[in-house]
Amino acid sequence: MIFIAAVVLLVILVLLLYYFITKDYSYWASKGVPYDKPFLIFGSFWNIVTGKEHLAQRIRSIYNQHKTPYFGIYVFHQPNLVIRSPELIRKVMVKDFDKFKDRNAFSNESIDPLNFHSLFGAKDTTWRNLRSKLSPVFTSGKIKLMFPLMVDCANDLSAHLEKLNGKTVEMGNVLKRYSVDIISSCAFGINANCFKTENSEILVMATRLLDFRSLSRSLSMFCAFFLPKVMYIFRLTFADQTAAKFLVDVFKGALREREEKKIVRNDLIDLLNNLKKNESFDDSYKFDDIKMAAQAITFFSAGNDSSSITLSFAFYELALHKEVQDRLRREIRATLDKEKDLTYESIHNIKYLDMVLSEVLRKYPLTALINRQPSENYTFEETGFTLEKHITVIIPITGLHFDPEHFPDPEKFDPERFSDENKRNIKSYTYLPFGEGPRSCIGQRFALLMSKLAIAYVIKDYAVEPTNQTSIPMKYNPRYPFTQSKDGVHLRIVKV
Ligand code: HEM
Repeated sequence: MIFIAAVVLLVILVLLLYYFITKDYSYWASKGVPYDKPFLIFGSFWNIVTGKEHLAQRIRSIYNQHKTPYFGIYVFHQPNLVIRSPELIRKVMVKDFDKFKDRNAFSNESIDPLNFHSLFGAKDTTWRNLRSKLSPVFTSGKIKLMFPLMVDCANDLSAHLEKLNGKTVEMGNVLKRYSVDIISSCAFGINANCFKTENSEILVMATRLLDFRSLSRSLSMFCAFFLPKVMYIFRLTFADQTAAKFLVDVFKGALREREEKKIVRNDLIDLLNNLKKNESFDDSYKFDDIKMAAQAITFFSAGNDSSSITLSFAFYELALHKEVQDRLRREIRATLDKEKDLTYESIHNIKYLDMVLSEVLRKYPLTALINRQPSENYTFEETGFTLEKHITVIIPITGLHFDPEHFPDPEKFDPERFSDENKRNIKSYTYLPFGEGPRSCIGQRFALLMSKLAIAYVIKDYAVEPTNQTSIPMKYNPRYPFTQSKDGVHLRIVKV
């Protein structure tokens, strides 16, 4: 008898839970908006939860199934609106930006102050204050000052490859060392020595900061973007706290040393220190230690994997397209024939390098989507549909980048799409590897420069070739929210 009662109670509880989770599933039908049919409690994300599709593939599939300017999906129980039309994307990201300033991502000062004060996680006036203070740090003039620091790291990369000549190498591992060296140097003013020390502590901690191999961390990351309320309930943090604490201590140590020895390096620490010194009495956002450290952690979390992952895909495609690789080498060497070393200016003048990297970022955008949260109800003039302020808007980057209407034969790796003549025909707001508008990637110039430098330094002296360990076609790691190779990028390095 007790057993039957317990079973009945359990069934009632499950049904109640199911009802509460799925009660909003009539939302899009009630608004007359076409939508992707939800499945059980997972909305449109069942294939992601089961690992059948990576987020990037899921967004492409949903985008391809719905041809209307916008359509609804359910991210688990929450209705979200996907906008497909470039004109609507322009309105959300640029024209009416004031009504779409924030991301729908977890941000809470008492639970995770580092994320709250990072540009990525900051909201509303905190974000506005931070962005206006930090923008001068990322101007081309300031980044040019960091160029010599980057060249030192590119030289270490070259020297490392010399030792690996003729061997098959997991490129992600090598490029991670390069990006950690650069970020450590440009953000913290320290030499991380990732090529010379097998397990450099800073490399271990930078890897741990956003390491999603453990189930708990990968769930945290997923919730930060798609179920922020779960983060509040369980007091979860965006980045690994042991790694964050280690990096904050390194940053504070570097700050102290800088003050004591009066060293100037034109890196992030110097630039932040200058911002702090020039604060006026009535400044609405003043930097304290935590806020300063949050910016250094942002550099690590936003700048490190993003660049090394993009670079891995670049070498993968170059290995699979020998003709592209040979032409790139010729153009880099032609530049070197005119000047002894690659300079900040000359690297920007290698047109084919820019075309190759642009095509890599089309085919492998780091993020499958970008989201924005309206700050008030918003009516689309075109249709009269009113978007309610609790509905998150999704910009489907992988859908747009693989839409044959915008990029014919989208699976093909074709840098010609970005030649001077052809790129004029790319429709605005269909190519968004760094986002768009006032909230786009602040590190874009920095990322492009460090990526071009690595490609040029490797390709000028080495050929990259596929081996039987190279995964063809590319498979994505389903645990990782960003587009990252599942099996690593294994290529042979040969001196040429
Ligand atoms: C290839 C490398 C990179 C790619 C593909 C990339 C891509 C992106 C994308 C798609 C966004 C979201 C933009 C939006 O919402 O409209 C973003 C934001 C951001 N990125 Fe990057 N990024 C890269 C490298 C970097 C680097 C090197 C840094 C720092 C040094 C950086 C710092 C940031 C920050 C701070 C934000 C948040 C900006 C804000 O909310 O105001 N990124 N990035």
